[in-house]
Amino acid sequence: MPIKKKTKKLEPQDKKLIEEIIRVDHAGEHGATQIYRGQLAIFNENTEFGKEIKEMAEQEEIHKSTFDELIVKEDVKPTIMFPIWNIAGYALGVGTALLGKKAAMACTVAVEEVIGQHYEEQAEELKKRKINPQLLKTVKKFREDELEHHDTGVEHQAEMTTGYILLSKTIKQLCYTAIKISKKY
Ligand SMILES: [Fe+2]
Ligand SMILES: [Fe+2]
Repeated sequence: MPIKKKTKKLEPQDKKLIEEIIRVDHAGEHGATQIYRGQLAIFNENTEFGKEIKEMAEQEEIHKSTFDELIVKEDVKPTIMFPIWNIAGYALGVGTALLGKKAAMACTVAVEEVIGQHYEEQAEELKKRKINPQLLKTVKKFREDELEHHDTGVEHQAEMTTGYILLSKTIKQLCYTAIKISKKY
């Protein structure tokens, strides 16, 4: 089948932005599925709590597949840190789950706060440059999902976790670092 030609030739800086968005979101969504995979290795997915985690995990799977498709379609090189983020995500999921339900949800709250903000910034930039409306739509939709996950975490008393502030700060810092590296490399 012939490959469909893209209609508009992008400016180099716009092409770079789109590549960065796809590379970092691809890594992030894989990381997210790994976090939940780790948590579901600890929590029984047939319990009320496990089902909540599973529901978020299933949405992350959709996000992940979307960026799996986009990375191929737009011919973007995945981040070189990809295997590391996958291991780190899984470890973070297992680690927080071992600390308990509230800590597991605190992980979601911290991650989604960063990711929600991150998607928002991407959406703003795409809107400003008036490029790739399809990607803009995706980013906006996923942002809504992430904010729902965030709220689910808060509803589960994530903020009542012992050592919440430190845990949250550490996880957020990890996310910022992962984003910074994965955009470029
Ligand atoms: Fe996601
Ligand atoms: Fe999420």
